Amino acid sequence: MESSVSVTYVESAAMSQRKKTVIDILRDSDDFVSGEAISDVLGISRNAVHKHVKSLRKRGYRIVGVSRRGYRLEDEPSRLSMGHVTQRTENTMFGHSFRYHDEIESTNLEAKSLAMKGAPEGTVVVAEAQSAGRGRLGRRWTSPAGKGLLFSVILRPSLPMSEAHLLTIVAATAAADAIEKHVPARVAIKWPNDLFIGDRKVGGILMEVSGEQDEVDWIVLGIGLNVNTEFSELPVALRRTATSLKMVGGELVDRSDVLASLLLSLEVNYHAALRGGFEKALTAFRERDYLLSRTISVETRQGPVIGAAAGIDDRGALLVELPHRRVRSFHSGDVSVRH
Ligand code: BTN
Repeated sequence: MESSVSVTYVESAAMSQRKKTVIDILRDSDDFVSGEAISDVLGISRNAVHKHVKSLRKRGYRIVGVSRRGYRLEDEPSRLSMGHVTQRTENTMFGHSFRYHDEIESTNLEAKSLAMKGAPEGTVVVAEAQSAGRGRLGRRWTSPAGKGLLFSVILRPSLPMSEAHLLTIVAATAAADAIEKHVPARVAIKWPNDLFIGDRKVGGILMEVSGEQDEVDWIVLGIGLNVNTEFSELPVALRRTATSLKMVGGELVDRSDVLASLLLSLEVNYHAALRGGFEKALTAFRERDYLLSRTISVETRQGPVIGAAAGIDDRGALLVELPHRRVRSFHSGDVSVRH
């Protein structure tokens, strides 16, 4: 069958020809290259060279700088092989149109802007690094360049707005299935859509929905997964609570292969849910429910509600058993486990 796949490599305005030249100069030399030599070639100030070096470091280039000697390139970031991804996702909905960024503010933001301009369902925005990755509840998502997976897909399901949130259950269970193909561990889901291995978070999902008159117009489903992140690369505040596939399995994991598995799994589960309803995803979630039977605290506007997690109902709401066997359901919220 003829297939037309489009992969657009989007050069962020910042990854200018100048930065590429800085990399080329450093690659060509085994030794240090002085800031002055680089500034002469580029015709810019040494301060400007330093700024380029700083921004390249953010993109995962390991460049050491020693005063009076200059800069030396020690390591380059690994990049996704979009060729591998498109080969594995050939003829699928999440395999026809990719927009690849070395660095972007947030793939969700970009996917939302594309969706508003009418980008088709299945468009995938993927980045090696985000300067302002977004998490749930206004939090940040951070990941060192070239170490994790950061991507967003555009969906245009024919669904009432009131059911859209159930797609996060579909996405989380699909992602858990895919991840288990690449790491010898069980993936659990902490309601509503945190991906856990053991007691640590390995990934998260951020779904943003737009619609009118109770009909979904578009959904952007963003997934962040720690793949080859080392313990030392985790923000200090997350070192007790986060993990990566590499930290769990002890070996580097092929990010392109994981991305392809995630997209294929999302596709199968998404279509199954739209055709056959959400029952299968709800059952899959219940088998992976990280919170079940634990004592938890749910933050509400009136303060924390503490009780025993009692699963989810058929609308995907979290059930919490309170004293005297009273059960309360929550449709959104921040949940923590009480130890
Ligand atoms: C969470 O756990 O709070 C959700 C995290 C979602 C992060 C992903 S990374 C790719 C996509 N782009 C974003 O800005 N956020 C999501």
